[in-house]
Amino acid sequence: EISGRVLEMAGAISRDYAGREILVIGVLKGAFVFMADLIRALSVPCQTDFIRAASYGAGTESSGTILITKDVELPVEGRDVLIVEDIVDSGLTLRYIIDALKLRNPRSIKVCAFLDKRKRRKIHFEADYVGFTMEDGFIVGYGLDFNEQYRFLPAVYVLDPAPACEKEENG
Ligand code: PRP
Repeated sequence: EISGRVLEMAGAISRDYAGREILVIGVLKGAFVFMADLIRALSVPCQTDFIRAASYGAGTESSGTILITKDVELPVEGRDVLIVEDIVDSGLTLRYIIDALKLRNPRSIKVCAFLDKRKRRKIHFEADYVGFTMEDGFIVGYGLDFNEQYRFLPAVYVLDPAPACEKEENG
């Protein structure tokens, strides 16, 4: 199901950018698996780069304080930029990255997200290309982690906190 959807998304992107070259910017770390599959399915040329934004806060929620800890290295000015994300949650990370990149005068800027988790949005944010939407739940695999674990899993899974709780209850 994932590979089929990635092919569909790559098809839509290739049609929209026909005759142009895309600067694909992956948001580290989570996006690298999805991005690798997506760019190999494009039928338009692209250059690739990465950005990393850290959001400081407790546990699994964004605090809203975002810092770019690894910047894009290629020039963005005049380019058709496609930001690739694994997941949109509160929307704060992407809003921050888009605003930062817009200051560098790209020709266009769009977002492609593998997962759109809509329930916890803190601001209005719509990605231009979305793989799958979900309401809530903590997803791991296909690049997504929990405490840096599970990124390598080829599919996506909902993390079930029950086993850890049961363990505690059982002493
Ligand atoms: C995740 C995800 C997005 C961001 C989405 O990254 O990859 O970048 O959070 O959250 P938001 O919409 O609430 O801002 P994370 O900080 O977990 O880093 P990672 O990609 O290295 O796992």
